[in-house]
Amino acid sequence: RVGVVSIPVVVHVVHNPARPEQNIGADQIHSQIEILNQDFRAANPDVTKVPPVWKSLVADTMIEFHLATRGPNGEPTDGIVRVETQRMGFTHDDLVKSSATGGAAPWPSDQYLNIWVCQLTGGLLGYAQFPGGPPDTDGVVIRHSAFGSTGTAAPPFHLGRTTTHEVGHWLNLFHIWGDDGEGCSGDDKVADTPNQAGNNTGIPIFPHISCNNGPNGDMFVNYMDYTDDAGMMMFTSGQSTRMNACLEGPRASFLV
Ligand code: ARG
Ligand code: ZN
Ligand code: CA
Repeated sequence: RVGVVSIPVVVHVVHNPARPEQNIGADQIHSQIEILNQDFRAANPDVTKVPPVWKSLVADTMIEFHLATRGPNGEPTDGIVRVETQRMGFTHDDLVKSSATGGAAPWPSDQYLNIWVCQLTGGLLGYAQFPGGPPDTDGVVIRHSAFGSTGTAAPPFHLGRTTTHEVGHWLNLFHIWGDDGEGCSGDDKVADTPNQAGNNTGIPIFPHISCNNGPNGDMFVNYMDYTDDAGMMMFTSGQSTRMNACLEGPRASFLV
């Protein structure tokens, strides 16, 4: 593909009236869209913190995002839907994605990236559906306190990287450690990410070596690891190629 593609986004804010903080403000939503655009275009200010050995792999994916300006029936919209729920929180069971279960139905998922923002229970920051799944649950779900960089966004997940990570999954990226626990046989199907044992948390010190991947070690600064938001700041060229292949394939409806 030549040129940038910009994906229309609808944000469903599913909130309990007894928990007003769940009804996040438009400024918090706008901060998240800006972060997505910075991160997917390698225009994030902290890209300078990528260790020198990986700077040549930093990728501008040529993918951008914007809040929808037209709804499913062509009506003007600000791309934000607010729905009240009686539930105190949700988990990764997709109940937030249907009004019958206290959530909100998606807009047509071949035309919009649906983002549900709500309270998530336990330690869950967010979850995503990979391409090829059921249309009525397609999209990503993000905990309100891990969404955007203002309002209720709370450290250490206050820089919008949970959404960057989950949209990576939505565009077919696997975790950088290959989802094999702590093993060295898992594969993220991307050639330019080092083989890595398990996930990293916090903000590791370079280098962190596993699976004989020295001297540079794990690419823990990658959005598809599990570090703090301030510790992740890049996609690789290989990951960009894989996401763009998804846009030419199972998510090709976004290119028209
Ligand atoms: N699904 C992951 C979780 O809930 C998201 C991790 C996002 N990481 C981050 N630094 N924001 O744990
Ligand atoms: Zn993940
Ligand atoms: Ca592994």
